Amino acid sequence: MKEHIKSESSAGVLTLTLFRPDKKNALTNEMYGAMADAIEQAKSDSAVRVVLVQAEGETFCAGNDIGEFAAVAAGMAPGERHVMRFLHALARATLPLVAAVQGRAVGVGTTMLLHCDFVILADDALLSTPFVGLALVPEAASSLLMPARIGHVRAFEMFALGEAVDASAAVAWGLANKTVPRKILHAEARQVAERIAMQPAGALRAAKRLMRDPDILTARMAAEGEIFAQRLQSAEAREAFRAFAERRPPDFSKLAG
Ligand code: COA
Repeated sequence: MKEHIKSESSAGVLTLTLFRPDKKNALTNEMYGAMADAIEQAKSDSAVRVVLVQAEGETFCAGNDIGEFAAVAAGMAPGERHVMRFLHALARATLPLVAAVQGRAVGVGTTMLLHCDFVILADDALLSTPFVGLALVPEAASSLLMPARIGHVRAFEMFALGEAVDASAAVAWGLANKTVPRKILHAEARQVAERIAMQPAGALRAAKRLMRDPDILTARMAAEGEIFAQRLQSAEAREAFRAFAERRPPDFSKLAG
């Protein structure tokens, strides 16, 4: 199978590149597994001081692969599911996480950024979390982190209406540090990551540990995961996934909820 996560380590920076551009870097079970393994292993690799997440192509990440959502809902996705391991790896990451985002970041493409410590957006970045429109609920502890970061009403608008937030609003709202022109995004992110990597590793780890509580985050992920799993089985979700596959807007009008 083609490798959809590229990994490269140098100068203290482990760079993970989402590499499924033909599918807008939508995340599959294998991709979650590869990301989880890399972030978990980086913890005990003394050569790695920072993890940089970036993506190939025009889109950072179109979220979870919707075909896989449908397959899970239909009980047709055998084997271990890696998504929760990936989310826990983010929540329990001890190394600073830096993200470089261009184009669309949808669903988990945006919620993973809430676990990153430094986020750089290309000026064409558009962040969205259309969970409710897919008949789902927020995940990755975003039901906690998003309102805490940007306030309840903005978070509700993002979750319920799914509208995209552009790069300058995202910076103004505290979702990212800064925007840069698309063509220098990866160079800029690399530079920031290398600067962070040169800081004292012990102090960085200690500072991050004080700023984030993994137990609270993973408890919220578990609560969200339970409801998310129920929602995946709903008639509303079946309609949403069918509509995506058929490239038409969903029709929830006849479903009682
Ligand atoms: N899951 C599976 N496949 C996806 C995908 C996803 N989340 N997002 C995009 N793709 C696939 C499309 O099916 C299409 O495949 P095809 O070429 O075999 O038909 C390909 O990627 C290109 O996508 P397309 O929709 O044609 O690109 P676009 O530039 O018009 O739109 C997006 C880009 C990201 C706006 C659009 O693809 C989209 O809305 N995707 C779904 C996002 C989403 O709701 N994710 C789940 C969040 S919880």
